[in-house]
Formats: sequence, C-alpha cells, structure tokens
Amino acid sequence: MSITLSQAKEKLEKYGQPHVLKYFEELSETEKAALLAQIETSDMNVIDSCRHQEELLQRGVITPLAAMQLPEIQANRESFTATGLEAIRAGRVGAVLLAGGMGTRLGSDDPKGVYNVGITRKLYIFECLMHNLLDVVRQADAWIHLFVMTSDKNHDTTVRFLTEHEFFGYKAEYVHFFQQKMALAVDYDGKIFLEEKGKMASSPNGNGGWFVSLKDAGLLDLVHETGIEWLNVFAVDNVLQKIADPCFVGATIQKNCVVGAKVVRKVTPDEKVGAICLEDGRPSIVEYYDMTEELLEAKDENGAPAYNFGVILNYLFSVAELERILSRSLPLHVVEKKIPYINEDGILVKPEAPNGYKFENLVLDMIHQMESCLPFEVVREQEFAPIKNRTGIDSVESARELLRLSGVEL
Ligand code: UTP
Repeated sequence: MSITLSQAKEKLEKYGQPHVLKYFEELSETEKAALLAQIETSDMNVIDSCRHQEELLQRGVITPLAAMQLPEIQANRESFTATGLEAIRAGRVGAVLLAGGMGTRLGSDDPKGVYNVGITRKLYIFECLMHNLLDVVRQADAWIHLFVMTSDKNHDTTVRFLTEHEFFGYKAEYVHFFQQKMALAVDYDGKIFLEEKGKMASSPNGNGGWFVSLKDAGLLDLVHETGIEWLNVFAVDNVLQKIADPCFVGATIQKNCVVGAKVVRKVTPDEKVGAICLEDGRPSIVEYYDMTEELLEAKDENGAPAYNFGVILNYLFSVAELERILSRSLPLHVVEKKIPYINEDGILVKPEAPNGYKFENLVLDMIHQMESCLPFEVVREQEFAPIKNRTGIDSVESARELLRLSGVEL
C-alpha cells in the first residue's frame, strides 16, 4: 500500500509540483495507485539541481596523469596477458554491459544493442559484443559472468531479443540482467513533465548508478559467491569493444592499480572526448568542454600534449574499491534533452528540440573516487567504433568503416 492522496499532495506541494495530479480524477483505480506509488518513490530533491547547475560541477586543480602507451604495452604483452588469463581462468573477472541508455541520438525507439549494423547480412550491436567476449572465453577456455544493465524503458525488449537469439552463442547461465533506476524529467522551470496522464516523465538516471543497481538487484551476492574481484564495465555502443581483454586486465593487476581505463590518443587536443588526468592529485577525467586554453596547450616532459588520452568507456574496477565507495554520492549532471510530454490539452507532444532537463550520474565520476588508475592506451582503429548518431562522426557509417578495417564482413 503506497501513500494516500493527501500525503501525495503534501509531497508535491513541498516541491512545487501540484500539477502532477491534474488528471488524477480521470484515472482508473489501477492508474491512480500506480501514480501514487511513483510519487512516493521518486526522488524530488534532484529537481532543485537544475536551478544551480554552475555550483554542481566545480572542478579542482587539473594536472597530467601519464598513460601506459603502446610501446610499453607491446614490450610486456606476454606477461600482462598471462596475468590476465590467470585471473580470468580463476573466475576473478566479470563484465558489465551498460545498456540502459535511451540512444536518443540514434533516433530509434529500440534498445541500441538490437540495432543492425550489417549490410548484406544481419549483424546486431549485441552480436558484435557477444562475439568479442566469446573470443576471450575461447582464449581463456573459461566462461566470464556478464551482467547486463537495462532500464525500465528497454528491459523487456532487451531480454526478449537476447533470449530469442540465444545470446549469440553465449552461455545463458553466465548472463545476468539488472535494471538501473529512473530519474524524473522536468521542463526548464523545473516542473515535472507528465508522459501520460497518470505517469510522471522519467528517464534512466545515467550510467553512474550501475554498481548500486547491481547490488540492489542482489547480484553482488553472486559476485562474492563466484569470487569475482574485477568488473570490466563497458558501453553498449562501441562495436569494436574488447571486453575482459587479458592484456589490459593483467597490466592493471601488475601495476597495482584499483582501476584501469582504456584510452585512445586524441586526434586533436580539442577532440570531444574526456581526457584522463589528475584532479587535486586523484585520478579524474576532464570533459572536453572543461578544457581551458592552458590545458589544451600544456605539454608533458617529452613535449607531447599533456592531456592527450581520451577515455572510451571501458574501465576495469576492483570490486573491493567499488564496495568502499558504495555509500558515496556522485555529482549530479543536469542534461538538456528532448522529453515527450502531455500538453495543456492532454495531448502527447514529441518535441523536435530539447525542451527540458534530465538528471544523470556518470561512471566517469567514479574514477575520481578511486585511489589509483592505470590509463591504458589502445589502438583507436582496432578498439573504438562508437555508434552515437546515424551518420557523420561516431555514427553507424563510421563504425561500419572501422568494422570493415578490422576484417568484419558486413
Ligand atoms: P550515452 O551517454 O551515449 O547515452 O551512453 P545514450 O542514452 O546511450 O545515448 P543518447 O545520449 O540518448 O543519444 C553511453 C553508455 O552508457 C549507457 C548507454 O547505454 C551506453 O552504453 N547508459 C547511458 C546507461 O546504461 N544508462 C544511462 O542512463 C545512460
């Protein structure tokens, strides 16, 4: 039994959101109960954040953090790979696929992973990822637990799709789904949108909540039972993503770091990727829009640009460290988005341009909570083919080109 109507009114009044009950009397009993439950469980404290965004993301002092570069990796490849394979065979490495995003830029209502990048044959994004992980399973001759994060918006479709395709050859008992939390979506005045007469608009709360959501789903018990000590978190939309890469795992372990971050050499200093750095002496990532002239021009001791390595959303976290930071909150990012809503006349509008804010935590902010980090350089053409847009930069087109270069038949 959720809160009563008068309790709901009280909460909404407190946050300046009484309009949420505008259509309450028109709703069926089930819809009324669902709306009351949503009002009860929604965090409305976040809404205030859009009113003082500047203060939210204050930066500390940025200094360089040297990456382990290709020549050093090449010289130690055998030893790193042996260490990584040993950890994988002992079941100490798990993988976490972040697939809860909405993929709005791609413009499809389906989960991103079900997108077909093939031309003469079907080749789904999920399929590419499963095949990449299967390569390591074969190399190690051991299965790796794969945790898949979805959201309320795409959970059922994702589970159905992967089940119907028999996980593209992956062993079903090694695949575990969990759902991330949702956050309310508001207009530019901080008023919660309604996406239905009996439902407040919400969107996935960003990829930063993955470990808390994994724990809330009871899967941390499985992590402990199976002895997983490292979790390799990766994005759904990089079709060249190498998952549980033994060389990367081994390098992070040998260097005694609690997190490893795969990075690529930036094409130009102002390329739109987050650059790995130190912030107030701790590992961190400076977003491209926070790069000042001074940082863009800074050089390291070899005369190379000091902030030259961009993250590609592939991190290897120590589980012990993740548990240590579990109770700490992450900074909140207020993001402008196109949010479908019910207008004054009760009609659903799908805006063409951004019309409000959603609230997100980001996995990159977890890096700043870690004691040590190994930035590990990878060859961009071999490991980084993100699909954010349909055409142009980071698109289906550019990813196809890179897949071809890697010898994948489309
Ligand atoms: P993006 O930041 O590209 O967001 O996600 P998105 O929602 O997929 O796409 P746009 O911005 O709407 O076009 C990077 C990775 O983080 C995951 C995505 O699925 C992708 O793997 N992600 C993002 C989540 O798992 N949950 C989220 O709430 C947001």
